[in-house]
Amino acid sequence: MSFKEIEEILKKTEGEVFEKATLNSLWKLMSKGYITSFDFPISTGKEGNVFRAFQKDKFIAVKIYRITTSTFRNISKYLIYDMPNVRRDKRNIIFAWAQKEFNNLKKLHNAGIRVPKPIAAEGNVIVMEYIGSRRAPAPLLKNAAIKDAKKIFDKIAKYLRIMYCKAKLVHADFSEYNILIYRIQPVIIDVGQMVGRDNPIAIELLQRDIKNIVKFFKKFINVNEKKLFEYVKGGENEIRKSS
Ligand SMILES: Nc1ncnc2c1ncn2[C@@H]1O[C@H](COP(=O)(O)OP(=O)(O)OP(=O)(O)O)[C@@H](O)[C@H]1O
Ligand SMILES: [Mg+2]
Repeated sequence: MSFKEIEEILKKTEGEVFEKATLNSLWKLMSKGYITSFDFPISTGKEGNVFRAFQKDKFIAVKIYRITTSTFRNISKYLIYDMPNVRRDKRNIIFAWAQKEFNNLKKLHNAGIRVPKPIAAEGNVIVMEYIGSRRAPAPLLKNAAIKDAKKIFDKIAKYLRIMYCKAKLVHADFSEYNILIYRIQPVIIDVGQMVGRDNPIAIELLQRDIKNIVKFFKKFINVNEKKLFEYVKGGENEIRKSS
C-alpha cells in the first residue's frame, strides 16, 4: 500500500483539518525507521484506523487516531481528570490521548498483562506489535472460535486483577470487542480510555467492565459478576506478598 493510498483513506475518514498533522506524524515515524511501509487497513472504526504495516520485514500494527465530535466529547471527559495540564485544543488533546494509550500499553506490558507490545508514539499515531498471523489479524473474542471458555475466562480474570491491584488501572471499555484471541490466549487492546484507580468513577467503570465480560461468558460457562468483582478487588494482598 502506498503513502498516496493511505492519504486517500485518511482524507475520506477525517477531512482536511487533521490530515496534515497525521501525515506529519507518519512521516516522522517513517524517517525514524519505526514504519517501513503500509500493508492494509485492519480496521476503520469510530475513533481511528488500524493498519497492518512493516518495520523492515516484520509485521507491526499502526493505530491512527482521528477526531470526530462524539469521540472527542468522550475523550475530553476522561482527560480533564487524568491529564489536567493538557492545552484544550483538539490537536493537543488527541495527541495526549494517543500518548496516554501508548503509556498504558507500557504499564500493562510491564505488569505482565498480554497486550500488543508498544513500539513508538508520535502525535496521533501509535506503533505496536501486530497480533495475528501472516494470513490474517487475530480475531476479536466476539468472533473467535472458543474451545475452552473457562481457560480464557480465567486468564481474563487474572488480567483484570493485575490491572486493578498492580497497575492500578481500570480498562473502562472492556468487552469481547476489545480482546483479541491469539494462539488460544486473550490479548487486551484499546487502552486509551483507561482510568486510574483513584479516579472518582473508577469503581463504577470497573463494575461495568465486569458486567460486560460476564455477560459474554455466560453464553459458555457459569460465571457471576459478584464473584469476579470480589476476585478482582481481592488481589491486593496476594500481589503485595509476591512483589
Ligand atoms: N495490535 C493489533 N494487532 C492486530 N489487530 C489490531 C491491533 N490493534 C487493533 N487491532 C484491530 O483493530 C481494531 C480497532 O482497534 P481498537 O479497538 O484499538 O480501536 P478503536 O478505537 O476501538 O476502534 P473502533 O472504533 O473500531 O472500536 C480492533 O478491533 C482489532 O481488530
Ligand atoms: Mg476497540
